[in-house]
Amino acid sequence: MTHPRKIIIDTDPGQDDAVAILLALSSPDELEVLGLTAVAGNVPLALTQHNARQIVELSGRIVPVYAGCDAPLTRELVTAEHVHGKTGLDGIALPDPALPLAPGHAVDFIIDTLRREPSGAVTLCPLGPLTNIAEAFRRAPDIVPKVAEIVLMGGAYFEVGNITPAAEFNIYVDPEAAEIVFKSGVPLVVMPLDVTHKALTSRAWVEEMRGLGTRTGQAVASWTDFFERFDTAKYGSEGAPLHDPCVIAYLLEPGLFSGRHINVEIETKSELTLGMTVADWWRVTERAPNALFIGNVDRDGFYRLLTDRLSRL
Ligand code: BDR
Ligand code: CA
Repeated sequence: MTHPRKIIIDTDPGQDDAVAILLALSSPDELEVLGLTAVAGNVPLALTQHNARQIVELSGRIVPVYAGCDAPLTRELVTAEHVHGKTGLDGIALPDPALPLAPGHAVDFIIDTLRREPSGAVTLCPLGPLTNIAEAFRRAPDIVPKVAEIVLMGGAYFEVGNITPAAEFNIYVDPEAAEIVFKSGVPLVVMPLDVTHKALTSRAWVEEMRGLGTRTGQAVASWTDFFERFDTAKYGSEGAPLHDPCVIAYLLEPGLFSGRHINVEIETKSELTLGMTVADWWRVTERAPNALFIGNVDRDGFYRLLTDRLSRL
């Protein structure tokens, strides 16, 4: 019997973060979630750590939630209430969590866990700005070679930007942190907008979630209804992109995704293109590949997996 893969989910929930977390917690045979580390992003840290605890409680599982950095490494925080609502998790009212925050800082939890576990045992799954991960790497360079892999949501090449014309939100909020992670040498799998904009919800799927008749199904349907309004108005698309669940789906069924192993650099200087992921998709430079940059997803397979797993909670 193979052991489940140990992961830490670094997150700024966010309705799509919430679905990703529930997907991971519904898959204990494959994934052992060592902890959730909250970061400032979609909304300030006070809300992301609160939302993370609400999501864990909704799942009925027990996982520690740590609060991490409340601002990017060197910049002012940019938030996205215009997408996720005032709480970051608008769409359904969940009870205040009884689960307390785990003691200690999220960055210390990341460092201590990687130091304790054997090399190659822990995979990091960032679903928000990369501040906590970069801060851990900066403070404890010894942990960097011990990370098995980082599978993250962030960036874009063909889709370019969603928060500015040139940049995707997670990378834009903390480009200096992203630069540290992309230059770290840890094997990276990147879920950019190029793929997540293909992972669009459909009306039928949302109704299927509602039809599960569970608290999880109800929450997922309500969250999707909420942020779908924003996305369909902005993109004119059929549904809403479930960005962050692509990270967890990749861990569960990598065959659903395809991409290219290429070089990706982060723009940290230009005012106009700050936070852009300069992806050498066409391999026009000699720069060494540092990331598996995903471009495609089997959408039906992705939503089949979500339905199958979320119906277990
Ligand atoms: C990313 O930004 C956030 O709004 C989402 O949760 C996702 O992680 C998409 O650009
Ligand atoms: Ca997120």
